Amino acid sequence: MMDIAIRPYRVEDAKPVFEAIEESKDDIMQWMPWCHPDYSIEDSKSYLAISVTGFERGEIYDFAVLRDGHFVGACGLNQVNVIEGVANMGYWLRSSEAGNGIMPMAAKKVINWAFENTELNRIEIVAAVGNNRSQRVAEKIGAHKDAVLAKRILIDGKPCSAVLYSVIKD
Ligand SMILES: CC(C)(COP(=O)(O)OP(=O)(O)OC[C@H]1O[C@@H](n2cnc3c(N)ncnc32)[C@H](O)[C@@H]1OP(=O)(O)O)[C@@H](O)C(=O)NCCC(=O)NCCS
Repeated sequence: MMDIAIRPYRVEDAKPVFEAIEESKDDIMQWMPWCHPDYSIEDSKSYLAISVTGFERGEIYDFAVLRDGHFVGACGLNQVNVIEGVANMGYWLRSSEAGNGIMPMAAKKVINWAFENTELNRIEIVAAVGNNRSQRVAEKIGAHKDAVLAKRILIDGKPCSAVLYSVIKD
């Protein structure tokens, strides 16, 4: 049995984050605009600094995903709209860990944490129409498929349609 846990990102995660991204660029790059061929440990360090400060300010809630205690990816809430109580969820997993149902478990934990610890009422997932793996995660956690939005997401610098999913607090 796998043990899947989440905990807030720490600045010390720079090395495992970089190593996981380095291994997984082919899978991540096409869907996540921050990931690029020259992604470096400096990129991880500067993002983690923003993320850790953002968590303290209630602007970003990024979590490391751990499988049996090892860093395997990240799942977080960004675009936090405190006025409306809405946020966007993003996630990525290192390629060698894909297909074991890790991210659906982690995403559920992040959502439960958010509904228990923040004023958020609605969490959205926006997945490119071609990103079947991300859409499967949304479906597995019971997210509702709300709509297909035209030119909602940048893929390779081009605006593309995306599926909007939502999870609502009871
Ligand atoms: C999306 C992602 C986090 C899925 O995490 P995961 O823990 O592998 O999720 P699951 O194990 O539930 O697998 C989801 C689907 O991926 C597909 N899949 C799984 N392993 C795969 C593999 N090795 N190769 C290709 N597709 C695979 C399957 O369709 C699976 O659905 P199924 O279980 O109904 O067959 C991961 O694929 C990823 O990091 N992708 C790149 C980043 C990304 O797109 N993020 C989302 C942006 S909105």
